[in-house]
Amino acid sequence: MPEFLTEAESFFEYTQSLRRDFHTHPELGFQEVRTAGIVARELTALGLEIHPGIAGTGVTALIEGAKPGLVILVRADMDALPIVEETGAVYASQNPGVMHACGHDGHTAILLTVARMLHAHRNELPGTVKLMFQPAEEGMGGADKMIDAGVLENPKVDRCLGLHLWNEKPVGWFGISNGPLMAGAEIFKVRVIGKGGHGASPHFSADPVLAAAQIISALQGIVARNVAPLQTAVVSVCTIHAGETFNVIPPAVEMTGTIRTFEPEVRTRVLQRFDETVNLVAQAMGCRAEIDMQRLTPATVNHPGTAAVVQAAARRLFPDADVDPANYVTMGSEDFASVLDRVPGCFFFVGSANPEKGLDAGHHHPKFDFDEIVLPRAAALMSAAVFDVLSNQ
Ligand code: NI
Repeated sequence: MPEFLTEAESFFEYTQSLRRDFHTHPELGFQEVRTAGIVARELTALGLEIHPGIAGTGVTALIEGAKPGLVILVRADMDALPIVEETGAVYASQNPGVMHACGHDGHTAILLTVARMLHAHRNELPGTVKLMFQPAEEGMGGADKMIDAGVLENPKVDRCLGLHLWNEKPVGWFGISNGPLMAGAEIFKVRVIGKGGHGASPHFSADPVLAAAQIISALQGIVARNVAPLQTAVVSVCTIHAGETFNVIPPAVEMTGTIRTFEPEVRTRVLQRFDETVNLVAQAMGCRAEIDMQRLTPATVNHPGTAAVVQAAARRLFPDADVDPANYVTMGSEDFASVLDRVPGCFFFVGSANPEKGLDAGHHHPKFDFDEIVLPRAAALMSAAVFDVLSNQ
C-alpha cells in the first residue's frame, strides 16, 4: 500500500494553489467552464484521456490499473453558490455575488490530487478508477444529468466514493456512516376539490376547507403510527390556500409541503400512506383529491461493506482521529445520492473546521472557510479508500 498521507502532504502546495484558484474564480452550476477547463488541463497533463462537456461542464477520465478488477467511480462537485463572500481572505471571490461557500473548490482540488497519486501508482492498482467532476450539485441535479449522459456505463461502474468537507466538525473528525446519512426529499402539491356554495348553507356544498383540515391532521398520523419508533420521517404541510371571502365555501383548496425520509422502505410506506390518507379522507368528506408528488433527491445511503473499508482506512491513516462509525445523519440533501441509489458505495464527511483560526462558519454562510490542512488528509483518505475497496474484492 502506497504511503498516501506522506505523498499527499508533499503535494500540499499543488492542492492548495488549485483550491485557492477555484475559490477566487467561483462559478455557478452548469457555468463551471473555467473550473472544468483547469480540471481538463490537469488531467491531460497526467497523460489521461479526458471526456469534457458531459451534462454541460462535467468531465470524466479513466485511470486504468495494471491489474484487473472492479471499476470504482470517484466524484467531486465543482459548483459555487450565489452568495456575496465576506471572508476577507486573500483568495476571496473575484466574481461578485458568487462564492465557494460549501467547499466544492476543495473537493475539486482534492480529486485532482487523488488522480495524480492514483495515476502514479497505476501499476499497483487492482482495477479501474473513473473520475467524475460534476457540475451543479447545489439543487440543480448535476449528478442526475451526468447519469443520464451515461457516466455509470462504459465501463460499467461497480463501486462509488465521494466526500464532503464538513465544517460542523473539526479537522481530525471523520463521519463515515454505515447506512443512511442524508435525507431524501419529496415535494408535494395537493388539491382538494369539493363543491362551493353559500357559507350559510353548507348542506348544499361539499366543503374542501373542512376536508383539508381533516387531511392535515390525519397526515400527522403517518409519522406517529406508520413509521417505526426508531426510524424517522417528516411530513410537513407548509402552505394552504383557499377561498376569497367570509361567506363563500370555496370549490377547492391547495396545499404544498415536503416529505423527508432516509430508508427506502420507510419512504415507500410513507408515500403509500400519504396517498391513501389524502384520497380516502377527501372521499369521506364528500370531496376528491389530486396529488402531485415530485422527488427532489433520494436519501444518501451508504453500502455498509464499502463504508467499513473506508472506516478502516481512516483509522489506519489517522490513528488519533475521531472516526465516527455511528449513523451520523444530517437533514441536508446531496445529489451524489442518485449515484449511491444505483451503485454500492460510500459518501463520507471529513471534518474541516478550526475554531481557533476562526475557520468554523457553517456551509453556505458568507464567512464559510475551512482549514486547508484538511486537503492532503482528505486526498490521502480518498486514495487509500480507492485502493482498499478495489483490493478487497
Ligand atoms: Ni456541498
